[in-house]
Amino acid sequence: MDRMLVTGGAGFIGANFVQGAIATYGKITVLDALTYAGDVRNLAPVADHIEFVEGDIADASVVDRLVGQADVVVHFAAESHVDNSLGDPAPFVRTNVVGTFNLLEAVRRYDVRLHHISTDEVFGALPLDTGTRFTEETRYDPSSPYSATKASSDHLVRAWTRSYGIAATISNCANNYGPYQHVEKLIPRHITSVLTGIRPKVYGAGANVREWTHVDDHNAAVQKILANGRLGDTYLIGSGQERSNKQVTETILRLLGQPADAYDLVPDRPGHDLRYATDSSKLRTELDWTPQYQDFEAGLAQTITWYRDHQPWWQATKIATERRYGG
Ligand code: NAD
Ligand code: DAU
Repeated sequence: MDRMLVTGGAGFIGANFVQGAIATYGKITVLDALTYAGDVRNLAPVADHIEFVEGDIADASVVDRLVGQADVVVHFAAESHVDNSLGDPAPFVRTNVVGTFNLLEAVRRYDVRLHHISTDEVFGALPLDTGTRFTEETRYDPSSPYSATKASSDHLVRAWTRSYGIAATISNCANNYGPYQHVEKLIPRHITSVLTGIRPKVYGAGANVREWTHVDDHNAAVQKILANGRLGDTYLIGSGQERSNKQVTETILRLLGQPADAYDLVPDRPGHDLRYATDSSKLRTELDWTPQYQDFEAGLAQTITWYRDHQPWWQATKIATERRYGG
């Protein structure tokens, strides 16, 4: 059985991944700095079956030690929120660029397989209503400090693959939703706002479109890439479920029994990408991946139920987050 190192495993997608991967991998070590976005409670269901190391991927010595004990690394750790990157880009450069560099140097040293988790935001924005989609060949054109640092990390992985022959794959996924997502992000922010009597805030006119992919479908794709992905290759991951922010907001309000217009339009996010959409046919054809959550509204209803049932998980964070947003 492979020994797996998961960076960022106490965050949203990483914790869901670890909870699912425990059945497949003999030994999982999670390396996570427990920033504001990391929470050991996210790993409670598997705490007895994993090793947890609190540490920073920007610290080359801890990265070296743990990579040296692993057969495969799945790299989720990142500063992940666009709004935060606009306020203070420094931690994004440190974690997303320097942290990834440290991992690359360690996997090169110990000849360890790496899967790098990235985002469709590296490609910039698509126009509305054109039907165009990002592919694995789309030119990089990041808009925010967050996406620029993720683009940098992808370029580092590609360069280390070509120049040093490391055994790496990359995936670029569309917007995720599901349990354990931090309340700073659109869907959990709206759900927890409505549950606490705050009117949801929609940036600009709410016309921006995202492709909503359930976290379990993202992680199932990562498992497929780990098992059968071609080394050196990139795979796009996306459900095909495109919705405008206005549509998402109105659906959440309806599912929570509120009037569809019970939200406020607020000033737009600077550099706000208009639309993301991926063409994931390579993943579907070559690795036989099909998203299980084809009904976005059903996935949203299930996510609402999770937040309703886990109020103690988000209550304190909600207050701190809204304060950070200036509320
Ligand atoms: P998250 O913010 O919920 O979790 C990030 C985790 O990384 C946290 O546990 C945090 O403590 C940890 N971390 C941050 N800096 C660290 C450091 N220096 N050292 C060690 N650990 C550190 O993020 P997420 O939404 O789960 O995203 C995970 C990955 O998936 C990221 O690489 C992100 O770019 C990518 N991604 C996210 C989405 C999405 O919609 N959320 C979509 C596509 C790709
Ligand atoms: O596309 C993948 C990316 O999706 C990931 O790489 C990022 O880590 C992840 O955060 C997400 O980025 P977005 O910027 O798309 O997600 P966010 O949840 O911040 O916002 C989704 C959309 O909703 C975006 O158009 C901005 C808007 N928005 C967001 C918030 C928090 C609002 O209108 N109101 C809000 O309160």
